[in-house]
Amino acid sequence: MVQFVQGAYILSALLFILALAGLSKHETARRGNQFGMAGMGLALVATLLLVLDYLGTDYFDQGPVVVGLVIIVVAGAIGAVIGLRLAQRVEMTGMPELIAMMHSFVGLAAVLVGYNTYIETADFGHSDSVHNAEVFIGVFIGAVTFTGSIVANLKLSARMKSAPLTLPGRHQLNLAILVVSALLMVWFMLSDGWVGMAPLVVMTVLALVLGFHLVAAIGGGDMPVVVSMLNSYSGWAAAAAGFMLGNDLLIITGALVGSSGAILSYIMCTAMNRSFVSVIAGGFGSDGAVSGEARDYGEHREIQADEVAAMLKDASSVVITPGYGMAVAQAQYPVAEMTRKLREKGVDVRFGIHPVAGRLPGHMNVLLAEAKVPYDIVLEMDEINDDFPDTDVVLVIGANDTVNPAAMEEPNSPIAGMPVLEVWKARDVIVFKRSMATGYAGVQNPLFFRENSQMLFGDAKDKVNEIVAALG
Ligand code: TAP
Repeated sequence: MVQFVQGAYILSALLFILALAGLSKHETARRGNQFGMAGMGLALVATLLLVLDYLGTDYFDQGPVVVGLVIIVVAGAIGAVIGLRLAQRVEMTGMPELIAMMHSFVGLAAVLVGYNTYIETADFGHSDSVHNAEVFIGVFIGAVTFTGSIVANLKLSARMKSAPLTLPGRHQLNLAILVVSALLMVWFMLSDGWVGMAPLVVMTVLALVLGFHLVAAIGGGDMPVVVSMLNSYSGWAAAAAGFMLGNDLLIITGALVGSSGAILSYIMCTAMNRSFVSVIAGGFGSDGAVSGEARDYGEHREIQADEVAAMLKDASSVVITPGYGMAVAQAQYPVAEMTRKLREKGVDVRFGIHPVAGRLPGHMNVLLAEAKVPYDIVLEMDEINDDFPDTDVVLVIGANDTVNPAAMEEPNSPIAGMPVLEVWKARDVIVFKRSMATGYAGVQNPLFFRENSQMLFGDAKDKVNEIVAALG
């Protein structure tokens, strides 16, 4: 049985690797997800078989194992029902909060597994220092992930203010927690049995505070990186739990999640021109940077949907740059319909996607794929940025920060240095939004006041529907 389970674990690990490979491209993402689901299903069955195998041995008293098995199956069923309902009900805009909440569960699981294995070994009186190190590191990462993810969830769902919490001496506070935790780890590794509980509990409290403080100190504009950073932490927490339990698959899976989350964080930092260390250290936007709101950029001009439709009919090249507002309005379906109509009329329509458009990595790509926009006309920011000077019309649909020229032109702007879609270089720019309000980073956008820009006010879905109707 154990060999069968080992074989199943290797197969699951391969399926997870195939899942990651598949998820790296739109065309193969669905298959990637299927590989991931198959891998997880197999891993669950194999682990249950492993538990069943214990029933046939004298290693444990059989009574508690049967009870344990029933508890696992019932807990799994409850978890599956809750997970299914949450996934069915969640809006695309609520995905990052949900993901952050799930990361917090992984963190909590690592903490509980750590305590459980330690209590077990302390009880049997055979704790060794290598195992203790695994427990200590696992609980530490798990506790940081737990509170950090809860703060991320609260910030993303606007139940906690998104401005960074900048306590005086915050870096020293974080450093002090790290140093004290390292000393506690030495004490923990040298202690035997129940004595080790003291450093473990003190460190857990400190790590919970650190997780809270680390994420509370990170401001709105950097939240995408935080989400993927917590993704990485939750992976390492799972890997640590794998070491504690001696479960190879958990180690491999945790390492895959941990490293892919870290790579994604790095890619996003590059996309926002932010150094990873400065993001993690927090306090973004608190260094006296001047928000563009205070500046007077002049007057904006308005346009109506039928005029936009006429402009589009005459255009030969159109680029659509969607943002968070398209997701809020659920405008992807009429946008896909408008694209189809324009392409039928011979207009070259393409999409330009900023790496952090929307509220989670790949947010826009998922929405467009859902509405069946062909993949080959959906381009990354780097692929399309040079084409704007040759573009007739750009439709900025519910995007704001990701098309803000202040990022390139105003060194004091809170988003200075973030690469953006250079839409203002096109002949005409139409901005779909409901008001002159700022975007996620809270900075005004000088694009709206440019000579070649016109505002189409209203809900993006309604306005695109009006354009579709006018296109005939
Ligand atoms: P934002 O800067 O957030 O701007 C979205 C715009 O959509 C707003 O200005 C809003 O203006 C408009 N809008 C909202 N609802 C609308 C509706 N129903 N119809 C029409 N317009 C609507 O969007 P973005 O350009 O996509 O930038 C993303 C921002 O989110 C960046 O700052 C990024 O750092 C941050 N962020 C990204 C992520 C990831 S991983 N992608 C995660 C967290 C945060 P009105 O209110 O005037 O309509």
